[in-house]
Amino acid sequence: MSEKAILEFNGEQHEFPIVKGSENELGIDIKTLRAATGGLVTLDPGYKNTGSCQSGITFLNGEQGVLRYRGYSIEDLAEKADFLEVAFLLIFGELPTKEELEKFHDDIKSKSVVDDDVKKILDAFPKTAHPMGVLSSLTSALTAFNPSSVDVSSEDAMYNSVVKIMGKFPVLVAWTMRKKQGLPLDYGDNSLGYVENVLQMMFKKPNETYIHNPIITEALDKLLILHADHEQNCSTSTVRIVGSSHAGLFASLSAGISALWGPLHGGANQAVLEMLEDIKEDDGDTKKYMAKAKDKEDPFRLMGFGHRVYKNFDPRARIIKKSADQVLGQLGIDDPILDIAKGLEQEALNDNYFVKRKLYPNVDFYSGIIYRAMGIPTDMFTVMFALGRLPGWIAQWREMRLNKEPIGRPRQIYIGENLREFKTINNR
Ligand code: ACO
Repeated sequence: MSEKAILEFNGEQHEFPIVKGSENELGIDIKTLRAATGGLVTLDPGYKNTGSCQSGITFLNGEQGVLRYRGYSIEDLAEKADFLEVAFLLIFGELPTKEELEKFHDDIKSKSVVDDDVKKILDAFPKTAHPMGVLSSLTSALTAFNPSSVDVSSEDAMYNSVVKIMGKFPVLVAWTMRKKQGLPLDYGDNSLGYVENVLQMMFKKPNETYIHNPIITEALDKLLILHADHEQNCSTSTVRIVGSSHAGLFASLSAGISALWGPLHGGANQAVLEMLEDIKEDDGDTKKYMAKAKDKEDPFRLMGFGHRVYKNFDPRARIIKKSADQVLGQLGIDDPILDIAKGLEQEALNDNYFVKRKLYPNVDFYSGIIYRAMGIPTDMFTVMFALGRLPGWIAQWREMRLNKEPIGRPRQIYIGENLREFKTINNR
Protein backbone atom coordinates (compact mmCIF):
# COMPACT_ATOMS: atom_id res chain seq x y z
CA MET A 1 0.00 0.00 0.00
CA SER A 2 1.18 3.45 -0.86
CA GLU A 3 2.15 5.50 2.20
CA LYS A 4 1.51 8.84 0.62
CA ALA A 5 -0.94 10.58 -1.67
CA ILE A 6 0.30 12.90 -4.39
CA LEU A 7 -1.56 16.00 -5.43
CA GLU A 8 -0.59 17.81 -8.59
CA PHE A 9 -1.46 21.48 -8.69
CA ASN A 10 -0.09 24.22 -10.95
CA GLY A 11 2.44 21.78 -12.37
CA GLU A 12 3.90 20.94 -8.96
CA GLN A 13 3.55 17.70 -7.05
CA HIS A 14 2.84 17.70 -3.33
CA GLU A 15 3.03 14.65 -1.11
CA PHE A 16 0.75 13.99 1.83
CA PRO A 17 1.15 11.09 4.27
CA ILE A 18 -1.50 8.39 4.58
CA VAL A 19 -2.78 7.78 8.11
CA LYS A 20 -3.95 4.29 8.95
CA GLY A 21 -6.44 3.51 11.73
CA SER A 22 -6.48 0.36 13.84
CA GLU A 23 -9.24 -1.09 11.63
CA ASN A 24 -7.22 -0.22 8.51
CA GLU A 25 -9.23 2.89 7.71
CA LEU A 26 -7.14 5.19 5.57
CA GLY A 27 -6.99 8.94 5.47
CA ILE A 28 -4.86 11.56 3.75
CA ASP A 29 -3.22 13.84 6.28
CA ILE A 30 -3.60 17.26 4.70
CA LYS A 31 -2.44 19.36 7.68
CA THR A 32 0.22 20.99 5.48
CA LEU A 33 -2.00 21.51 2.41
CA ARG A 34 -2.42 25.29 2.62
CA ALA A 35 1.18 25.99 3.44
CA ALA A 36 2.50 23.64 0.75
CA THR A 37 0.20 24.81 -2.06
CA GLY A 38 -0.02 28.52 -1.31
CA GLY A 39 -3.57 28.47 0.08
CA LEU A 40 -5.49 25.51 -1.35
CA VAL A 41 -8.21 24.19 0.92
CA THR A 42 -10.50 21.18 0.51
CA LEU A 43 -14.25 21.66 -0.01
CA ASP A 44 -16.49 19.02 1.52
CA PRO A 45 -19.97 20.26 2.51
CA GLY A 46 -21.50 18.03 5.16
CA TYR A 47 -17.98 16.61 5.82
CA LYS A 48 -18.91 13.37 4.03
CA ASN A 49 -15.21 12.77 3.24
CA THR A 50 -13.54 14.57 6.09
CA GLY A 51 -12.08 13.07 9.25
CA SER A 52 -12.09 15.74 11.94
CA CYS A 53 -9.98 13.84 14.49
CA GLN A 54 -8.32 10.57 15.42
CA SER A 55 -10.43 8.87 18.04
CA GLY A 56 -10.16 5.68 20.10
CA ILE A 57 -13.76 5.59 21.32
CA THR A 58 -16.19 4.22 18.73
CA PHE A 59 -15.64 2.25 15.55
CA LEU A 60 -18.34 1.94 12.96
CA ASN A 61 -18.41 0.52 9.49
CA GLY A 62 -21.53 1.68 7.69
CA GLU A 63 -21.19 -0.74 4.78
CA GLN A 64 -20.88 -3.80 7.03
CA GLY A 65 -23.25 -2.58 9.76
CA VAL A 66 -20.57 -2.75 12.47
CA LEU A 67 -20.68 -0.65 15.65
CA ARG A 68 -18.22 -1.06 18.53
CA TYR A 69 -17.52 0.96 21.66
CA ARG A 70 -13.87 0.75 22.72
CA GLY A 71 -13.54 -2.49 20.72
CA TYR A 72 -16.63 -4.24 22.15
CA SER A 73 -19.47 -5.07 19.73
CA ILE A 74 -22.75 -3.27 20.27
CA GLU A 75 -24.50 -6.66 20.18
CA ASP A 76 -22.42 -7.91 23.16
CA LEU A 77 -22.79 -4.69 25.11
CA ALA A 78 -26.56 -4.49 24.57
CA GLU A 79 -26.99 -8.07 25.71
CA LYS A 80 -24.42 -8.36 28.51
CA ALA A 81 -23.73 -4.92 30.00
CA ASP A 82 -25.85 -2.25 31.62
CA PHE A 83 -25.93 1.43 30.73
CA LEU A 84 -23.70 2.58 33.57
CA GLU A 85 -21.00 0.02 32.69
CA VAL A 86 -21.15 1.20 29.08
CA ALA A 87 -20.92 4.83 30.20
CA PHE A 88 -17.80 4.02 32.22
CA LEU A 89 -16.33 2.08 29.29
CA LEU A 90 -16.90 4.93 26.85
CA ILE A 91 -15.60 7.65 29.12
CA PHE A 92 -12.60 5.90 30.71
CA GLY A 93 -11.71 3.34 28.03
CA GLU A 94 -12.11 0.03 29.91
CA LEU A 95 -15.00 -1.97 31.34
CA PRO A 96 -15.17 -1.23 35.08
CA THR A 97 -14.40 -3.82 37.76
CA LYS A 98 -17.22 -4.46 40.24
CA GLU A 99 -15.58 -2.05 42.70
CA GLU A 100 -15.02 0.64 40.08
CA LEU A 101 -18.63 0.40 38.93
CA GLU A 102 -19.95 0.64 42.48
CA LYS A 103 -17.77 3.64 43.20
CA PHE A 104 -18.81 5.28 39.91
CA HIS A 105 -22.49 4.82 40.78
CA ASP A 106 -21.98 6.02 44.39
CA ASP A 107 -20.13 9.11 43.19
CA ILE A 108 -22.85 9.86 40.63
CA LYS A 109 -25.51 9.53 43.32
CA SER A 110 -23.62 11.78 45.70
CA LYS A 111 -23.54 14.54 43.06
CA SER A 112 -27.11 14.15 41.79
CA VAL A 113 -28.72 16.97 43.76
CA VAL A 114 -29.50 19.90 41.47
CA ASP A 115 -29.49 23.33 43.11
CA ASP A 116 -33.06 24.18 44.10
CA ASP A 117 -32.75 27.54 42.32
CA VAL A 118 -32.68 25.69 38.98
CA LYS A 119 -36.41 25.12 39.59
CA LYS A 120 -36.93 28.89 39.31
CA ILE A 121 -35.36 28.84 35.84
CA LEU A 122 -37.55 25.91 34.86
CA ASP A 123 -40.59 27.75 36.19
CA ALA A 124 -39.91 30.64 33.82
CA PHE A 125 -40.45 28.44 30.76
CA PRO A 126 -43.97 28.19 29.37
CA LYS A 127 -45.47 24.70 29.59
CA THR A 128 -45.61 24.70 25.78
CA ALA A 129 -41.79 24.99 25.47
CA HIS A 130 -40.15 22.08 23.64
CA PRO A 131 -38.33 19.88 26.19
CA MET A 132 -35.14 19.88 24.09
CA GLY A 133 -34.92 23.68 24.28
CA VAL A 134 -35.56 23.52 28.03
CA LEU A 135 -32.99 20.75 28.56
CA SER A 136 -30.34 22.57 26.55
CA SER A 137 -30.95 25.76 28.58
CA LEU A 138 -30.92 23.97 31.94
CA THR A 139 -27.72 22.12 31.07
CA SER A 140 -26.12 25.41 30.16
CA ALA A 141 -27.52 26.96 33.37
CA LEU A 142 -25.70 24.31 35.40
CA THR A 143 -22.52 26.18 34.48
CA ALA A 144 -23.75 29.11 36.56
CA PHE A 145 -24.21 26.85 39.58
CA ASN A 146 -20.87 25.09 39.06
CA PRO A 147 -18.73 27.98 37.82
CA SER A 148 -15.23 26.58 38.18
CA SER A 149 -14.04 25.43 34.78
CA VAL A 150 -12.60 21.93 34.64
CA ASP A 151 -8.87 21.64 35.12
CA VAL A 152 -8.35 19.04 32.41
CA SER A 153 -4.80 18.33 33.56
CA SER A 154 -6.26 16.91 36.79
CA GLU A 155 -7.81 13.42 36.52
CA ASP A 156 -9.72 14.12 39.77
CA ALA A 157 -11.24 17.36 38.50
CA MET A 158 -12.20 15.68 35.23
CA TYR A 159 -13.76 12.71 37.09
CA ASN A 160 -15.64 15.09 39.37
CA SER A 161 -17.25 16.88 36.41
CA VAL A 162 -18.15 13.57 34.80
CA VAL A 163 -19.99 12.20 37.85
CA LYS A 164 -21.64 15.57 38.44
CA ILE A 165 -23.25 15.70 35.02
CA MET A 166 -24.06 11.96 35.00
CA GLY A 167 -25.90 12.58 38.31
CA LYS A 168 -27.66 15.83 37.52
CA PHE A 169 -28.64 15.26 33.89
CA PRO A 170 -31.33 12.59 34.58
CA VAL A 171 -32.85 14.95 37.17
CA LEU A 172 -33.07 17.69 34.53
CA VAL A 173 -34.59 15.20 32.06
CA ALA A 174 -37.25 14.15 34.57
CA TRP A 175 -37.99 17.73 35.68
CA THR A 176 -38.38 18.84 32.05
CA MET A 177 -41.12 16.26 31.55
CA ARG A 178 -42.78 16.68 34.96
CA LYS A 179 -42.98 20.46 34.62
CA LYS A 180 -44.93 20.06 31.36
CA GLN A 181 -47.27 17.63 33.06
CA GLY A 182 -47.78 19.80 36.15
CA LEU A 183 -46.19 17.21 38.45
CA PRO A 184 -44.05 18.17 41.48
CA LEU A 185 -40.29 17.91 41.02
CA ASP A 186 -38.25 15.51 43.08
CA TYR A 187 -34.84 13.85 43.20
CA GLY A 188 -35.71 10.17 42.86
CA ASP A 189 -34.34 7.48 45.11
CA ASN A 190 -30.63 6.73 45.48
CA SER A 191 -31.32 3.13 46.52
CA LEU A 192 -32.38 2.36 42.93
CA GLY A 193 -30.31 1.47 39.89
CA TYR A 194 -29.44 4.36 37.53
CA VAL A 195 -32.07 3.54 34.91
CA GLU A 196 -34.71 2.49 37.45
CA ASN A 197 -34.22 5.84 39.15
CA VAL A 198 -34.65 7.67 35.82
CA LEU A 199 -38.00 5.94 35.28
CA GLN A 200 -39.16 6.61 38.82
CA MET A 201 -38.13 10.26 38.61
CA MET A 202 -40.09 10.60 35.37
CA PHE A 203 -43.25 8.69 36.21
CA LYS A 204 -43.80 8.63 39.98
CA LYS A 205 -47.11 10.25 40.94
CA PRO A 206 -47.01 12.24 44.23
CA ASN A 207 -49.73 10.07 45.77
CA GLU A 208 -48.74 6.62 44.48
CA THR A 209 -45.87 4.20 44.80
CA TYR A 210 -44.13 3.75 41.46
CA ILE A 211 -44.20 0.07 40.50
CA HIS A 212 -41.10 -0.91 38.53
CA ASN A 213 -41.65 -3.08 35.48
CA PRO A 214 -38.43 -4.98 34.64
CA ILE A 215 -39.45 -5.22 30.95
CA ILE A 216 -39.55 -1.44 30.72
CA THR A 217 -36.35 -0.94 32.73
CA GLU A 218 -34.47 -3.43 30.55
CA ALA A 219 -35.79 -1.95 27.30
CA LEU A 220 -34.80 1.58 28.37
CA ASP A 221 -31.37 0.39 29.53
CA LYS A 222 -30.82 -1.19 26.11
CA LEU A 223 -32.03 1.90 24.24
CA LEU A 224 -29.66 4.11 26.22
CA ILE A 225 -26.75 1.75 25.44
CA LEU A 226 -27.57 1.76 21.72
CA HIS A 227 -27.62 5.55 21.67
CA ALA A 228 -24.58 6.05 23.89
CA ASP A 229 -22.11 6.97 21.15
CA HIS A 230 -21.89 7.11 17.38
CA GLU A 231 -18.51 8.68 16.63
CA GLN A 232 -18.37 12.03 14.82
CA ASN A 233 -22.08 12.66 14.13
CA CYS A 234 -23.60 16.17 14.09
CA SER A 235 -24.14 16.59 17.86
CA THR A 236 -20.85 14.94 18.86
CA SER A 237 -18.89 17.06 16.41
CA THR A 238 -20.69 20.06 17.90
CA VAL A 239 -19.66 19.06 21.44
CA ARG A 240 -16.05 18.63 20.31
CA ILE A 241 -15.91 21.87 18.35
CA VAL A 242 -17.49 23.94 21.13
CA GLY A 243 -15.18 22.29 23.66
CA SER A 244 -12.21 22.96 21.41
CA SER A 245 -12.50 26.66 22.31
CA HIS A 246 -12.00 25.45 25.92
CA ALA A 247 -15.64 26.15 26.74
CA GLY A 248 -16.59 23.99 29.75
CA LEU A 249 -18.12 20.53 29.65
CA PHE A 250 -21.68 21.64 30.49
CA ALA A 251 -21.66 24.44 27.90
CA SER A 252 -20.36 22.03 25.25
CA LEU A 253 -23.04 19.48 26.15
CA SER A 254 -25.74 22.13 25.94
CA ALA A 255 -24.64 22.89 22.36
CA GLY A 256 -24.71 19.16 21.57
CA ILE A 257 -28.29 18.94 22.82
CA SER A 258 -29.31 21.74 20.45
CA ALA A 259 -27.64 19.95 17.54
CA LEU A 260 -29.39 16.71 18.43
CA TRP A 261 -32.78 18.43 18.41
CA GLY A 262 -33.03 18.68 14.60
CA PRO A 263 -35.36 16.25 12.73
CA LEU A 264 -32.54 14.99 10.52
CA HIS A 265 -30.63 13.87 13.62
CA GLY A 266 -32.06 13.03 17.06
CA GLY A 267 -35.38 14.73 16.35
CA ALA A 268 -36.18 11.91 13.91
CA ASN A 269 -37.69 9.70 16.63
CA GLN A 270 -40.26 12.41 17.39
CA ALA A 271 -40.78 13.01 13.67
CA VAL A 272 -41.47 9.28 13.18
CA LEU A 273 -44.34 9.33 15.66
CA GLU A 274 -45.73 12.59 14.29
CA MET A 275 -45.67 11.06 10.82
CA LEU A 276 -47.47 7.94 12.09
CA GLU A 277 -50.10 10.18 13.76
CA ASP A 278 -50.60 12.01 10.44
CA ILE A 279 -51.03 8.72 8.62
CA LYS A 280 -53.57 7.58 11.22
CA GLU A 281 -55.54 10.84 10.80
CA ASP A 282 -55.45 10.16 7.06
CA ASP A 283 -57.37 6.88 7.50
CA GLY A 284 -54.15 4.88 7.91
CA ASP A 285 -53.38 5.29 4.21
CA THR A 286 -49.71 4.12 4.25
CA LYS A 287 -49.68 3.74 0.44
CA LYS A 288 -50.28 7.48 0.04
CA TYR A 289 -47.28 8.29 2.27
CA MET A 290 -45.08 5.76 0.51
CA ALA A 291 -45.94 7.48 -2.78
CA LYS A 292 -45.19 10.91 -1.26
CA ALA A 293 -41.79 9.69 -0.03
CA LYS A 294 -40.89 8.49 -3.53
CA ASP A 295 -42.15 11.62 -5.30
CA LYS A 296 -39.14 13.82 -6.10
CA GLU A 297 -41.42 16.89 -6.33
CA ASP A 298 -42.56 16.30 -2.75
CA PRO A 299 -40.13 17.21 0.06
CA PHE A 300 -41.71 14.55 2.34
CA ARG A 301 -39.36 11.81 3.54
CA LEU A 302 -40.29 8.65 5.34
CA MET A 303 -39.04 9.51 8.82
CA GLY A 304 -37.01 6.78 10.51
CA PHE A 305 -35.72 5.41 7.20
CA GLY A 306 -32.22 5.83 5.81
CA HIS A 307 -28.97 6.72 7.49
CA ARG A 308 -25.97 8.83 6.60
CA VAL A 309 -23.45 6.08 7.32
CA TYR A 310 -25.33 2.77 7.52
CA LYS A 311 -26.04 1.96 3.92
CA ASN A 312 -26.96 -1.73 4.37
CA PHE A 313 -28.44 -2.02 7.81
CA ASP A 314 -28.26 -0.25 11.14
CA PRO A 315 -27.00 -2.80 13.71
CA ARG A 316 -28.77 -0.88 16.46
CA ALA A 317 -32.06 -1.14 14.58
CA ARG A 318 -31.70 -4.94 14.45
CA ILE A 319 -31.23 -5.15 18.23
CA ILE A 320 -33.96 -2.71 19.04
CA LYS A 321 -36.48 -4.23 16.64
CA LYS A 322 -36.27 -7.41 18.72
CA SER A 323 -36.68 -5.36 21.88
CA ALA A 324 -39.67 -3.50 20.38
CA ASP A 325 -41.40 -6.79 19.51
CA GLN A 326 -40.76 -8.06 23.07
CA VAL A 327 -41.96 -4.88 24.80
CA LEU A 328 -45.11 -4.64 22.71
CA GLY A 329 -45.83 -8.35 23.12
CA GLN A 330 -45.14 -8.52 26.86
CA LEU A 331 -46.99 -5.30 27.68
CA GLY A 332 -49.89 -6.50 25.53
CA ILE A 333 -50.28 -3.08 23.95
CA ASP A 334 -52.97 -2.63 21.34
CA ASP A 335 -52.29 0.66 19.56
CA PRO A 336 -53.34 1.55 15.98
CA ILE A 337 -50.22 3.75 15.62
CA LEU A 338 -48.00 0.76 16.24
CA ASP A 339 -49.97 -1.29 13.68
CA ILE A 340 -49.39 1.48 11.13
CA ALA A 341 -45.67 1.42 11.97
CA LYS A 342 -45.46 -2.32 11.36
CA GLY A 343 -47.37 -1.99 8.06
CA LEU A 344 -45.12 0.81 6.86
CA GLU A 345 -41.99 -1.11 7.79
CA GLN A 346 -43.12 -4.11 5.71
CA GLU A 347 -44.13 -1.97 2.72
CA ALA A 348 -40.82 -0.10 2.69
CA LEU A 349 -38.74 -3.26 3.10
CA ASN A 350 -40.43 -4.68 -0.01
CA ASP A 351 -40.50 -1.53 -2.10
CA ASN A 352 -38.08 -1.19 -4.98
CA TYR A 353 -37.38 2.53 -4.34
CA PHE A 354 -36.31 1.85 -0.75
CA VAL A 355 -34.49 -1.42 -1.51
CA LYS A 356 -32.55 0.15 -4.41
CA ARG A 357 -31.40 3.08 -2.27
CA LYS A 358 -30.68 0.83 0.70
CA LEU A 359 -33.10 2.73 2.89
CA TYR A 360 -33.90 0.61 5.94
CA PRO A 361 -35.61 1.49 9.19
CA ASN A 362 -33.06 3.15 11.46
CA VAL A 363 -32.79 2.99 15.26
CA ASP A 364 -35.12 5.99 15.59
CA PHE A 365 -37.95 4.20 13.85
CA TYR A 366 -38.06 1.56 16.59
CA SER A 367 -37.00 3.73 19.53
CA GLY A 368 -40.02 6.00 18.96
CA ILE A 369 -42.29 2.97 18.99
CA ILE A 370 -40.84 1.69 22.28
CA TYR A 371 -40.96 5.09 23.95
CA ARG A 372 -44.61 5.39 23.01
CA ALA A 373 -45.33 1.95 24.46
CA MET A 374 -43.59 3.06 27.70
CA GLY A 375 -45.89 6.05 27.97
CA ILE A 376 -43.22 8.67 27.24
CA PRO A 377 -44.72 11.74 25.51
CA THR A 378 -43.66 12.19 21.89
CA ASP A 379 -41.85 15.47 22.45
CA MET A 380 -39.68 13.77 25.12
CA PHE A 381 -38.28 11.17 22.69
CA THR A 382 -35.27 13.24 21.67
CA VAL A 383 -34.62 14.06 25.33
CA MET A 384 -34.35 10.30 25.97
CA PHE A 385 -31.88 10.09 23.09
CA ALA A 386 -29.84 12.87 24.75
CA LEU A 387 -29.85 10.93 28.03
CA GLY A 388 -28.39 7.94 26.21
CA ARG A 389 -25.86 10.00 24.25
CA LEU A 390 -24.58 11.80 27.36
CA PRO A 391 -21.65 9.41 28.09
CA GLY A 392 -20.60 9.47 24.43
CA TRP A 393 -20.52 13.27 24.38
CA ILE A 394 -18.56 13.29 27.66
CA ALA A 395 -16.08 10.70 26.33
CA GLN A 396 -15.55 12.65 23.11
CA TRP A 397 -15.13 15.96 24.93
CA ARG A 398 -12.65 14.38 27.37
CA GLU A 399 -10.66 12.74 24.56
CA MET A 400 -10.53 16.00 22.61
CA ARG A 401 -9.22 17.92 25.65
CA LEU A 402 -6.73 15.22 26.70
CA ASN A 403 -5.41 15.08 23.12
CA LYS A 404 -4.93 18.86 23.27
CA GLU A 405 -6.74 19.27 19.96
CA PRO A 406 -6.55 22.75 18.40
CA ILE A 407 -9.61 25.00 18.20
CA GLY A 408 -11.98 23.84 15.43
CA ARG A 409 -12.07 26.40 12.68
CA PRO A 410 -13.00 25.22 9.15
CA ARG A 411 -12.19 27.24 6.04
CA GLN A 412 -14.53 28.23 3.22
CA ILE A 413 -14.55 29.14 -0.44
CA TYR A 414 -15.99 32.63 -0.61
CA ILE A 415 -18.51 33.09 -3.45
CA GLY A 416 -20.00 36.46 -2.46
CA GLU A 417 -19.61 39.93 -3.95
CA ASN A 418 -16.19 41.39 -4.67
CA LEU A 419 -15.24 44.72 -3.12
CA ARG A 420 -18.07 47.21 -3.67
CA GLU A 421 -18.37 50.91 -3.18
CA PHE A 422 -20.53 51.81 -0.15
CA LYS A 423 -23.77 53.62 -1.06
CA THR A 424 -25.31 56.00 1.45
CA ILE A 425 -28.89 55.15 2.44
CA ASN A 426 -30.52 57.71 0.11
CA ASN A 427 -28.65 56.32 -2.89
CA ARG A 428 -29.69 52.64 -2.59
N1 ACO B 1 -37.50 8.79 2.50
C1 ACO B 1 -37.48 8.85 1.14
N2 ACO B 1 -36.36 8.97 0.40
C2 ACO B 1 -35.20 9.03 1.05
C3 ACO B 1 -35.11 8.96 2.46
C4 ACO B 1 -36.32 8.84 3.19
N3 ACO B 1 -36.32 8.78 4.54
N4 ACO B 1 -33.82 9.06 2.86
C5 ACO B 1 -33.08 9.15 1.73
N5 ACO B 1 -33.92 9.14 0.64
C6 ACO B 1 -33.50 9.15 -0.78
C7 ACO B 1 -33.04 10.53 -1.19
O1 ACO B 1 -34.12 11.29 -1.70
C8 ACO B 1 -32.00 10.16 -2.24
O2 ACO B 1 -32.72 9.78 -3.42
P1 ACO B 1 -32.06 10.04 -4.88
O3 ACO B 1 -30.81 9.20 -4.91
O4 ACO B 1 -33.11 9.61 -5.84
O5 ACO B 1 -31.78 11.52 -4.93
C9 ACO B 1 -31.34 8.91 -1.69
O6 ACO B 1 -32.35 8.30 -0.86
C10 ACO B 1 -30.09 9.18 -0.84
O7 ACO B 1 -30.43 10.11 0.17
P2 ACO B 1 -29.43 11.17 0.83
O8 ACO B 1 -30.23 12.34 1.34
O9 ACO B 1 -28.31 11.45 -0.10
O10 ACO B 1 -28.87 10.37 2.04
P3 ACO B 1 -28.08 11.03 3.20
O11 ACO B 1 -27.08 10.02 3.61
O12 ACO B 1 -27.56 12.37 2.86
O13 ACO B 1 -29.20 11.28 4.34
C11 ACO B 1 -30.66 10.90 6.14
C12 ACO B 1 -29.42 10.43 5.39
C13 ACO B 1 -30.56 12.41 6.48
C14 ACO B 1 -30.75 10.15 7.47
C15 ACO B 1 -31.91 10.64 5.27
O14 ACO B 1 -32.00 9.27 4.95
C16 ACO B 1 -33.21 11.13 5.91
O15 ACO B 1 -33.56 12.29 5.78
N6 ACO B 1 -33.94 10.21 6.62
C17 ACO B 1 -35.13 10.59 7.34
C18 ACO B 1 -34.75 11.25 8.65
C19 ACO B 1 -34.23 10.27 9.68
O16 ACO B 1 -34.81 9.20 9.90
N7 ACO B 1 -33.13 10.66 10.36
C20 ACO B 1 -32.54 9.82 11.43
C21 ACO B 1 -31.16 9.49 11.14
S1 ACO B 1 -30.57 8.35 12.35
C22 ACO B 1 -30.00 9.28 13.63
O17 ACO B 1 -29.79 10.46 13.56
C23 ACO B 1 -29.78 8.54 14.88
